[in-house]
Amino acid sequence: MKHLLSTADLTLADAIRILDTAGSMAATQGREIKKLPTLRGRTVVNLFFEDSTRTRISFETAAKRLSADVINFSAKGSSVSKGESLKDTALTLQAMGADAVVIRHHASGAPHTLATSGWTHGAVINAGDGMHQHPTQALLDAYTLRRHLSGPGDVTGRDLTGLRVAIVGDVLHSRVARSNVQLLHTLGADVTLVAPPTLVPVGVEAWPAKVSYHLDETIADDKPDAVMMLRVQRERMSSAGGGFFPSPLEYTRRYGLDARRLAALSDHAIVLHPGPMNRGLEISADAADSPRAVIVEQVANGVAVRMAVLYLLLAGGDAAPARPTNDEAKVNA
Ligand code: NCD
Repeated sequence: MKHLLSTADLTLADAIRILDTAGSMAATQGREIKKLPTLRGRTVVNLFFEDSTRTRISFETAAKRLSADVINFSAKGSSVSKGESLKDTALTLQAMGADAVVIRHHASGAPHTLATSGWTHGAVINAGDGMHQHPTQALLDAYTLRRHLSGPGDVTGRDLTGLRVAIVGDVLHSRVARSNVQLLHTLGADVTLVAPPTLVPVGVEAWPAKVSYHLDETIADDKPDAVMMLRVQRERMSSAGGGFFPSPLEYTRRYGLDARRLAALSDHAIVLHPGPMNRGLEISADAADSPRAVIVEQVANGVAVRMAVLYLLLAGGDAAPARPTNDEAKVNA
């Protein structure tokens, strides 16, 4: 694996390798000295053409915990706002010796273009492209699911065979949903997409998932083990609401996760959300803050998963994650 562009490119073995490596990385993060020397001397560039808080900080933290040098390049305030193309930006980064480029871009396919163009020789990691893919989000979601639940049909204890996951809300605009459907399918989970008909993408029949228009029915009939709430992406709708649903109140009434729906879930079921949340729209405050919600844990798991991805792409992943030697631990201290 040279790049991470889409969860559709990951085999079951790839996915399990990343999730297992993330587990080893997480184990190092409980130590007093969190920093590993693995990527010392390597340069990771965070190239963000779209606003992001948690994903950028998460990649930055992950790269730093592996001792890489990190350059944060955000399109605002750079020559990109003066009209520089992706090509020129990439050539500049290449001249600076980037070993990995983590890219978030509003255009679907931008990371693929970067990876195949020859403009950079580094590994390309997709941190979200348009409405297309956000593979590390799906990997951290799968990692979080695996920590709490196991697939009833899984004999190895490593995949999610038979786990029932409902992905609820603005599926149409969501790269998180697209990435998760692919990865969860690869891991053996059964996915149900729950959305108003206006927020279901054309061609969804080809996705490895069921579609439902009724959240209450899905909760009652499917008894999902996990409910993944999606943010209503108002910035991707032409005007507020954009005619995709009658009113925010109506959306909440039919598709919002609130205390009543939370109480109807199975005892073991957990609630995920990629953030940022619209509290009061797709998720109520009591649902977001309930003990079933693993939303804050998802953020923490994101660092371990991104460490694993950087490690496997840049260090080849042939060795076990390097542990600081005594000398290095002293230097780090
Ligand atoms: C997601 C994204 O940007 O695609 N958020 C994230 O990465 N933390 C989901 C979203 O913005 O709704």
